[in-house]
Amino acid sequence: MTRQMLMTRETPRLRLRMPEERDLDAFAEWFADEETMKWMQQPTLDRDEAWRVLAMMVGHWHLRGFGPWVLEEKSTGRLLGRGGLWFPEGWPGVEYIILVSPTARVGGLATEVGREAMRCAFEVLQLQELFGFIAPWNKRSIALANTLGFDFRKTWQPQAGTMLNVYSVQRDDYPRLRDAW
Ligand SMILES: CC(C)(COP(=O)(O)OP(=O)(O)OC[C@H]1O[C@@H](n2cnc3c(N)ncnc32)[C@H](O)[C@@H]1OP(=O)(O)O)[C@@H](O)C(=O)NCCC(=O)NCCS
Repeated sequence: MTRQMLMTRETPRLRLRMPEERDLDAFAEWFADEETMKWMQQPTLDRDEAWRVLAMMVGHWHLRGFGPWVLEEKSTGRLLGRGGLWFPEGWPGVEYIILVSPTARVGGLATEVGREAMRCAFEVLQLQELFGFIAPWNKRSIALANTLGFDFRKTWQPQAGTMLNVYSVQRDDYPRLRDAW
């Protein structure tokens, strides 16, 4: 039931839906883009590896009942990115993740998706806290976290050699943020 409510959502400009195999071309393009992957602190991926990422996101939906969507532009049907909720084993809590296609950035799309992820986290899943784990030098992602109302809490080392800033919004802060949208 909860999964049904989360699988397809809408924002003013986007239809958000669970990823499917037909999305592979877009995944392959995003993950082959050097600039995008630099910001995400990861090496570029070839098409076979992008398929595995796609499969992992579909698997996340099956295992957790929620997960990242693909962002479909309502007016054209084009895929403009992927984003949503992410909670793999070993993560300290549920995180929002977002990637917007290079040509569609700085137009407020990530803000739309982030707000919908917050709505789902607090109004549907009834979470106590929603996190963003962000590389300290990913200024765009930090700007997005600030716009969404996330506060810096501490640093976290998920593995040797990787240090992330932990941002979060707590349940009590959500109504105030939502009322300002
Ligand atoms: C981070 C990312 C998702 C932002 O997407 P976006 O659609 O451009 O973001 P928005 O247009 O909603 O902007 C959100 C805020 O960030 C700021 N911002 C976004 N890109 C920026 C840039 N290149 N330079 C300066 N500020 C930027 C916006 O000005 C806005 O702040 P404001 O509300 O104070 O104006 C996008 O740059 C991206 O996909 N980056 C690569 C993947 C990545 O790093 N993802 C996050 C880590 S997993």
